[in-house]
Amino acid sequence: MTSTQVTDVQQKREQDLVDTVVRSFDGAGDERLRFIMQTLVKHLHAVVRETRLTEKEWEQAIAFLTDAGAITDDKRQEFILLSDVLGVSMQVIGVNNQAYADATEATVFGPFFVDGSPRIELGGDMAFGAPGEPCWATGTVKDTDGNPVRGARIEVWEADADGLYDVQRPEGHMAARAHLFSDDAGEYRFWGLTPTPYPIPADGPVGKMLDAVGRSPMRASHLHFMVTARGLRRLVTHIFVRGDEIGWKDTVFGVKESLIKDFVRHPAGTSTPDGRSVEGPWTEVRFDIVLAPAEPAQPSV
Ligand code: BEZ
Ligand code: FE
Repeated sequence: MTSTQVTDVQQKREQDLVDTVVRSFDGAGDERLRFIMQTLVKHLHAVVRETRLTEKEWEQAIAFLTDAGAITDDKRQEFILLSDVLGVSMQVIGVNNQAYADATEATVFGPFFVDGSPRIELGGDMAFGAPGEPCWATGTVKDTDGNPVRGARIEVWEADADGLYDVQRPEGHMAARAHLFSDDAGEYRFWGLTPTPYPIPADGPVGKMLDAVGRSPMRASHLHFMVTARGLRRLVTHIFVRGDEIGWKDTVFGVKESLIKDFVRHPAGTSTPDGRSVEGPWTEVRFDIVLAPAEPAQPSV
């Protein structure tokens, strides 16, 4: 049954309640807070009315949120995960990183960034012993006028070949994460790992919800970047592997066409760009990064 099937009297009662609740925020001194709360109330009530939500279903929703709170601590954030799998994180990122000239697109931050990553020199290895196939990553950092950005801080982090970030391992030492700085020509290069698919933490209420609706918890293979430079908009993004088995089915909707890159595979024994000796096959990827101005006058496409 939809809301259009209720009687006029019932419709009026429901709408009166929405109006009363919306008006209860009229006195909020903070205009922005008032706008957000009133909009939230309208949309929440619309969901209840449109779905004709039962009391049992509402109790289940409250129980779900209670479980999400119970599993959340300083290491596990179930509410961000929920926002991620509902596509809300990506929508917030999109709204706040508007298209600007040829600036590189942003994507979801994820829960596995750690402050204080080790610094590596250009050409260094961010794997720090984490298992996986070596990957030589290179590119430039430029502004939207095409000028090289010198000294941009590039944070990189990723899961290893077992699908785990260092923080998910009991050993407790940092691996498969580092930061480096672009050189005078805006160029960077480092050794990392060829990304592989892995599941988001699925042992909590969000995982149960995905299971109940027949959705996979898998993320498309990716390598995270966060790039900061004075006067330019901070970029939080990943690059994805062209031909990846998960690809567009990424459970947090993070994939963008412009961020899918060719990870070119070289057979064992092929010499490497920096002469490093590598056992087994390795890959090579190029990612040229363009940063928007910190506060663009106007979004332009
Ligand atoms: C990740 O990229 O690692 C990630 C992103 C969103 C939710 C969970 C994991
Ligand atoms: Fe990730």
